[in-house]
Amino acid sequence: MYQLTYCSKASIDVNEEAIEDILETARKRNETLGVTGCLVFHKQAFVQIIEGEKEHIQLLYQHIKQDARHREVVLLWEGVNDSRNFNDWNMAFYSAVDSQGKSGGLLNFERNLLLLAELANSTTSAMNMFWISVRKLLTEEH
Ligand SMILES: Cc1cc2nc3c(=O)[nH]c(=O)nc-3n(C[C@H](O)[C@H](O)[C@H](O)COP(=O)(O)O)c2cc1C
Repeated sequence: MYQLTYCSKASIDVNEEAIEDILETARKRNETLGVTGCLVFHKQAFVQIIEGEKEHIQLLYQHIKQDARHREVVLLWEGVNDSRNFNDWNMAFYSAVDSQGKSGGLLNFERNLLLLAELANSTTSAMNMFWISVRKLLTEEH
């Protein structure tokens, strides 16, 4: 099993529809490839972790890197790990867009995700880097 995590900035024209499109493709393709992971979209930035067979992950990352819907893609960590951390999710997704209005808006979203970032037991370096990056995104100045 192999894990890879990166962060990036959304391109200017990325809206809710574009995000839905990304998620739909990602979930379908990842299921076929046996890839699981988590994507966070916040303050026009992405943090993603993907896990699966090494060849699949490295090839997928090459694809993702070239996607015009984001830029400044920075690899945070990649490496071998013993088992999956996102067994149930071909691509779990966190965004304030989803929770606004429903659960009390942006502040609540940030608080909840920060809590999750603090509680997440980062058993691998990739997971650790992923959550550090999510925390940074949540706490840095707007
Ligand atoms: C932030 C972001 C995350 C993405 N995550 C995935 C993913 O997990 N799996 C996936 O198949 N495609 C993902 N994509 C989409 C790929 O970049 C690409 O569009 C998709 O794999 C289809 O590629 P193709 O048109 O060359 O077949 C992501 C794109 C972006 C911008």
